[in-house]
Amino acid sequence: MCGIVGYAGNRRVVPVLLEGLRRLEYRGYDSAGIVYQENDQLTKYRCEGKLSRLEGIVGDAIVADAHTGLGHTRWATHGAPTTENAHPHTDCSGRLVVVHNGIIENYHSLREELKDKGHQFTSETDTEVLAHLIEENLVDDLVAAVKKSLDRVEGSYALGVMSVDFPGQLIAARNQSPLVLGVENDGGTFMASDIPALLPYTKNVIFLEDEELALLEHGSYRVISLRSGEQLDKTITEIDWNAAMAEKAGYKHFMLKEIFEQPQAITNTVSGRINIETGEVVLPEINLTEKQFQNIDRIFLVACGTSWHAALVAKYWIEKYARIPVEVDIASEFRYRSLLVDERVLTVAISQSGETADTLAGIRRARKLGSRVITICNVVGSTMTREADGTLYTHAGPEIGVASTKAFISQLAALFLFTLYLSQVRDTMSSEQRRKLGQDLIDIARTVEQELPRIREQISEMIETFYDCRDFLFVGRGVNFPIALEGALKLKEISYIHAEGYAAGELKHGPIALIDKEMPIFAVTPKDSVYQKTISNVEEIKARQGRLILLGTEGDTHLNNITSDVIFMPKVHEDMNPILYTIPAQLLSYEIATRRGCDVDQPRNLAKSVTVE
Ligand code: F6R
Repeated sequence: MCGIVGYAGNRRVVPVLLEGLRRLEYRGYDSAGIVYQENDQLTKYRCEGKLSRLEGIVGDAIVADAHTGLGHTRWATHGAPTTENAHPHTDCSGRLVVVHNGIIENYHSLREELKDKGHQFTSETDTEVLAHLIEENLVDDLVAAVKKSLDRVEGSYALGVMSVDFPGQLIAARNQSPLVLGVENDGGTFMASDIPALLPYTKNVIFLEDEELALLEHGSYRVISLRSGEQLDKTITEIDWNAAMAEKAGYKHFMLKEIFEQPQAITNTVSGRINIETGEVVLPEINLTEKQFQNIDRIFLVACGTSWHAALVAKYWIEKYARIPVEVDIASEFRYRSLLVDERVLTVAISQSGETADTLAGIRRARKLGSRVITICNVVGSTMTREADGTLYTHAGPEIGVASTKAFISQLAALFLFTLYLSQVRDTMSSEQRRKLGQDLIDIARTVEQELPRIREQISEMIETFYDCRDFLFVGRGVNFPIALEGALKLKEISYIHAEGYAAGELKHGPIALIDKEMPIFAVTPKDSVYQKTISNVEEIKARQGRLILLGTEGDTHLNNITSDVIFMPKVHEDMNPILYTIPAQLLSYEIATRRGCDVDQPRNLAKSVTVE
């Protein structure tokens, strides 16, 4: 939530800040602002609304001869999304500015204290207290003033600070909100909430840890521990993403581009990890010995939103093939409920960003209780990957669309690989069976690639009769039940149509009362081991005149007798169906949302990477 960018170097700073914000806008888009130093003064632009408005307001200042500055794109927590509450926030003197992502939990008492000392507040945000607190503590050393101020702060922050009295300097600090530094060959230094903002300039990044502060200048950077004050020796990591990966590449929306990138995301996630001759799965980054895996008697899968749906699918796979009981938890529940977790439990956190606050808190709690922790994650160097015992990276590339698509598909691919790996270390499957299933996983990438254009075309014709409905149901059974949940989530988040996903067999326990001739129902009905059962549920819907869209297996002509809206999918191994059948669910949401004129990449009220509770 919220995107921060900062730069100190030789480039003109305004275009760098705006480009950085454009690449971070998925983190929040209800207001935006920039500030830069020029001629012993700070120039600040802020406005309510999206970045495009700010760009209009900045106008000619784009060519300002300034080389140090900060930018922010906001997802409001404290204070409405107005211009007054937009960052950067300034101290009383107007000589010091702050941009912030996170929540200052004790801001109320700090604000009262600072007001008593005469500070004048101009916004309703928690962030503004930071500007005044630093002003209060500033004598002649900006680093010392920020450090002293942060000692008083409770809560989470990724912070950028700048003062005209310290020309060319930027301060970055982090606690429980992500912040990376970038170092350019010519000595330019950057800070950003996420890697995509840095990609046009550098691939060399430094991940700040909690309670660390960095002083950035052109040609140098210095990182210190906020706890001890000691200077730290940080490692530079080279990122293998490039700037083009975070562009639309001719697609109308990031979401559509990312849907079409899914075959590649599967291939990248699987390749090199399974030997297709022997069936051996190799996952060295997981960092647990075979013995440790053998000693596990339960797995908790912990995640939020779409990643939680991937976890639900994995439960079916792991219990079936690796024969270990699996519990799936929504991270915001897991972190607070009474947990029966100990050293015989393996906790697997699934997260695209690796920064989701609830999932992070969940793994911290599990570790405290003695559990080993693995994360399945897309973002290299993210907090979860650094806190977990081991990581299984998905290689989806940067996902910019707020609605997760290729990250989900690559999570499924990684989780299937993980299932095969568990079956190997626990000896629950022959290598021949593993080899065949591994081949099915590899092959599904090609199948998805071949089917994507046809499915899109069919769905875009079909939605003309559905796009203006008020509600939608999605149903599926077994391993496809989570796909019904995922389809419903995608539709509601980008088209604002109310949608629910149900296990097909659950309908008659209540939701069937909703069905009438107005209600569209998207039913996942492949010819799998529960086909007959699902079809019985579909017949129950038909008997109540529900408007069915069926998603079934090529050649299943019976489906045409039930409804004229059938999308046929090629026959694949039934455990690959969740990957394949997700594609039409995503495209249905995408086509309906664009038909309704919704902003699919930046849906209202949402932000990617939910770093607050
Ligand atoms: C929905 C979506 C969210 C995320 C959730 C978890 O399309 O993207 O539900 O899946 O916020 O995010 P990560 O995976 O980054 O932990």
